Amino acid sequence: MNETLVSLVRKLKKTHSLSLDEYHALIVGQTPELAAFLAKEADEVRRSIYGNEVFVRGLIEISSYCKNNCYYCGLRRENGQAQRYRLSPEEILSCAREGYALGFRTFVLQGGEDAWFTDERLSAIIRQIKAEFSDCAVTLSLGERSFASYKTLFEAGADRYLLRHETADAEHYAALHPAELSFENRMRCLADLRKIGYAVGCGFMVGSPGQTPDTLAKDLKFVETFRPEMCGIGPFIPHHATPFAGEVAGSVAKTCYLLSILRLIHPPLLLPATTALGTLDPSGREKGVLSGANVVMPNLSPVSVRKKYELYNGKICTGEESAECRGCLDRRMESIGYRVVVSRGDPKSTPQKGDH
Ligand code: 5AD
Ligand code: SF4
Ligand code: FES
Repeated sequence: MNETLVSLVRKLKKTHSLSLDEYHALIVGQTPELAAFLAKEADEVRRSIYGNEVFVRGLIEISSYCKNNCYYCGLRRENGQAQRYRLSPEEILSCAREGYALGFRTFVLQGGEDAWFTDERLSAIIRQIKAEFSDCAVTLSLGERSFASYKTLFEAGADRYLLRHETADAEHYAALHPAELSFENRMRCLADLRKIGYAVGCGFMVGSPGQTPDTLAKDLKFVETFRPEMCGIGPFIPHHATPFAGEVAGSVAKTCYLLSILRLIHPPLLLPATTALGTLDPSGREKGVLSGANVVMPNLSPVSVRKKYELYNGKICTGEESAECRGCLDRRMESIGYRVVVSRGDPKSTPQKGDH
């Protein structure tokens, strides 16, 4: 193994910070041996905080309508082949009830940017979930909204918000999105969420078109400085009815490598082994956890709509009932020596720079 890179890994483990050039060197220096070393270090750090516990979040995909037109996503508004649906508040509540009975204590309401879900409607749904399940956390993943909207939803009881930054490089951002979406606004949203008091998740795709070691180094630096509670990363997977239909998918190995680096950057980070990882490789989520991930997100959406929430080709878990998905993940985690735990799985307090 390259000794310079090994010493960079050791430095990162100790100081939780590298320069952009050092991140760049780690990214381009990926080898199977270095990846194995990094994964071992990441696993050790994760075990020192979370033991062998993996948190579970119940994902409820509330709407496949989206007003945006991201070049990579199957739900983009110009995809005329997409099947659109939206769950009613009653359907969302009944997914949560089913999830609660299955042991879920965090519900993630995720959807495209759908104007039907006004602050009033969402607040009512959040209040109902919190009233009925007071021991549960509600996470939202509903895209860009105004400060006032985020605040209203927080006051209704939402605890956490996931909004991937997609890339920390403004030019790359513009290559992934039409001009109506801006990097500045995405960053504004993340800062607003933080200011309001949410536990915040950012994240990015691995292998998105136009991504380079430079843009990835910026993503790592962004996570280092923004210090999110959560970070969702998964491989880019082309969707057949998008402008990126002909692009190549990201790699499972690189995603795992980056998961390990992220664990060392910010040890208490909640890091999901994503569905996209499991879609590209049947044991992708297991590999993700072994590399440092500590969250899995089985699907709680009604089976009747699952195929319609098609962000990318071949998405897994579209035919299984919620209970099957839950049981499947339990077994998968057990098979690699981890335990799926029933709890809200709140982020651990985040040590400040310098104390390790
Ligand atoms: N491949 C992988 N991930 C995707 N996402 C959207 N489209 C794709 C795709 N084709 C991710 C984006 C978005 C999240 C909801 O799903 O990162 O933020
Ligand atoms: Fe809409 Fe999100 Fe897909 Fe963009 S990534 S088109 S905002 S659902
Ligand atoms: Fe959904 Fe295996 S996790 S079916």
